[in-house]
Amino acid sequence: MTSKYSRICQDIKQNINQGLLKKGDKIPSIRKLSKAYGCSKDTVQHALLELKYQNILYAVHKSGYYVLEGMQENDELDISLTDYSNRAYEDFRLCVNESLEGRENYLFNYYHQQEGLEALIASFQKQLEDTGVYSKKKNIVVTSGSQQALYILTQMDFPNNKEMILLEQPTYHRMNDLVRSQNLPYMTIKRDFQGLDFKKLEELFQNYPIKCFYTISRYSNPLGLTYHLQEKQALAELAYKYDVYIIEDDYMGDFAKTGDLPIHYYDTHEKVIYLKSFSMTLFPALRLSSLVLPQNLTRSFLDYKRLIDYDTNLIMQKALSLYIDNGMFAKNLKYLNRVFAHHMKQTLAKLAKYQITKNYVLAPHFVSLYLTDAKSDSLIENYMNRERSHYLRLTIDEKLSYNLEKWKSHL
Ligand SMILES: Cc1ncc(COP(=O)(O)O)c(C=O)c1O
Repeated sequence: MTSKYSRICQDIKQNINQGLLKKGDKIPSIRKLSKAYGCSKDTVQHALLELKYQNILYAVHKSGYYVLEGMQENDELDISLTDYSNRAYEDFRLCVNESLEGRENYLFNYYHQQEGLEALIASFQKQLEDTGVYSKKKNIVVTSGSQQALYILTQMDFPNNKEMILLEQPTYHRMNDLVRSQNLPYMTIKRDFQGLDFKKLEELFQNYPIKCFYTISRYSNPLGLTYHLQEKQALAELAYKYDVYIIEDDYMGDFAKTGDLPIHYYDTHEKVIYLKSFSMTLFPALRLSSLVLPQNLTRSFLDYKRLIDYDTNLIMQKALSLYIDNGMFAKNLKYLNRVFAHHMKQTLAKLAKYQITKNYVLAPHFVSLYLTDAKSDSLIENYMNRERSHYLRLTIDEKLSYNLEKWKSHL
């Protein structure tokens, strides 16, 4: 005989599958369900928690359980990569509504917290832990996108009393812009398909007053490079040996392969500043990032942040916290990983069609290529000296085949 617990789970799932319960619908209260099924409230509570755990329902504090929808295996995978963030939008909208409707203390009895909303920091801590980033809550800071974090980090003094910023090249064009436009002292080191020259890195760390090294650990922008295990360990060791901080920009960390951990994981001496944006997993307009700071940088970072704004947008912080806690983030990420895997598989087939078997790096949303006999200007902004390079980056979109055809004789 089926237990009451299983029957509740099955009935709710069936109602969802048959369309009787739709996304966002409220599940009857625990009291009503316990009466209807003739069982204890505990049994109902367990069944609802199980469905929450399966990402079928989500819970709203002091309100009840709502339909989140399980991930359908036949969800469309062929959506354009430029449109994928629309998928997160609907769920996120529910969380924004909830954040406004709740009229909770967080809006009206609030004292300024430059570090971010307590509820969001707790959500971040758990979510970071799931990806191998272990931190105390007091070292986690919410920022308005990575941009704000990078701006403050380039401005503030570091405890190592050094002043130079080391940039891998090519790199995220906004980081180049930040350093260039503020006339900050900097050095560069090449990181391309040949990887990073660790001997050169050590020489720079040893001989120059390098305050921090900005690097993108997974699917780097623009070339799509990912450090392997020994490189991450070496980076953590060198940082400690020469008292240099590493700014690990992990904007694609959510899409890392299973078992691929961030540099932060290998840092046992608090030398890694870990930064993760939600722009790639949700949408750039959200403007929220999580930043994990070494203890001795936290105070001065917050002092700087206070000068720029009191609080990062509270409604959005609350909404993101609900979005993570309710399992919507995990659900969307699972979906995005399937979309990206699908696009990567298709891209590999396209590369094979054009007989491109080497000199390329594939990332979830782009492919970078080495051109043997031509210099392209596609990455000019990604080099401090705005040089033309042998590298080319192509977005995975409907023009990819056309672009591969155009460039194939240079590969
Ligand atoms: C290297 C890198 N870091 C961070 C971001 C996201 O920045 P933000 O959080 O300011 O939107 C991007 C977006 O493309 C990026 O390429």
